[in-house]
Amino acid sequence: SKRKHRGPRVVIIGMPGAGKTRIGKEVSHLLKLPFMDSDVAIERQEGTSIPAIFEDLGEDEFRGIECDLIVNALLDHEGILSLGGGAPMQRRTRQALERYRDNGGLIAYLDADPEEMMERALRSQNRPLLSGDARGTWLRLYDERRPVFEQLANIVISTHRAAPSVGAHKLINAM
Ligand code: S3P
Repeated sequence: SKRKHRGPRVVIIGMPGAGKTRIGKEVSHLLKLPFMDSDVAIERQEGTSIPAIFEDLGEDEFRGIECDLIVNALLDHEGILSLGGGAPMQRRTRQALERYRDNGGLIAYLDADPEEMMERALRSQNRPLLSGDARGTWLRLYDERRPVFEQLANIVISTHRAAPSVGAHKLINAM
């Protein structure tokens, strides 16, 4: 393997609804590696929910907390790391991800049919950015983020109409 570093075996990025958490958990289960989801870790650290953090502190503050958490996880989380959809859009987070990748780290971008991802994303109440015109917002974010996801990733995995285990096996084959 090209891995010269400690840190995650794979970092999973992609839009809300792409299946980052589901597939990350499945891979973690199959390979018996620890799983970390940046949103869950932030909620645990702050003792409150993501929507409450957005409401009380605002998105900028959330991105700062998220960035610090991810920078640390890239150094010392030895397992699967799944990121909140918007994390790579923050410059400092993106630079940390580029460093991780350029040192031999694996970044997997999960993508699917937009309708399918949107459908899954809108089913959850836990996504403060998607209140209001949720479909319009989701599509705008997808347009903004896609080039960044593509630039960062060493591998793109389609989760289109597939059970989590299918995506998990594709990802394991790339590890
Ligand atoms: C966000 C996605 C969420 C969470 C926060 C912001 C985004 O994670 O980090 O609500 O900017 O797209 P998921 O991708 O797991 O929904």
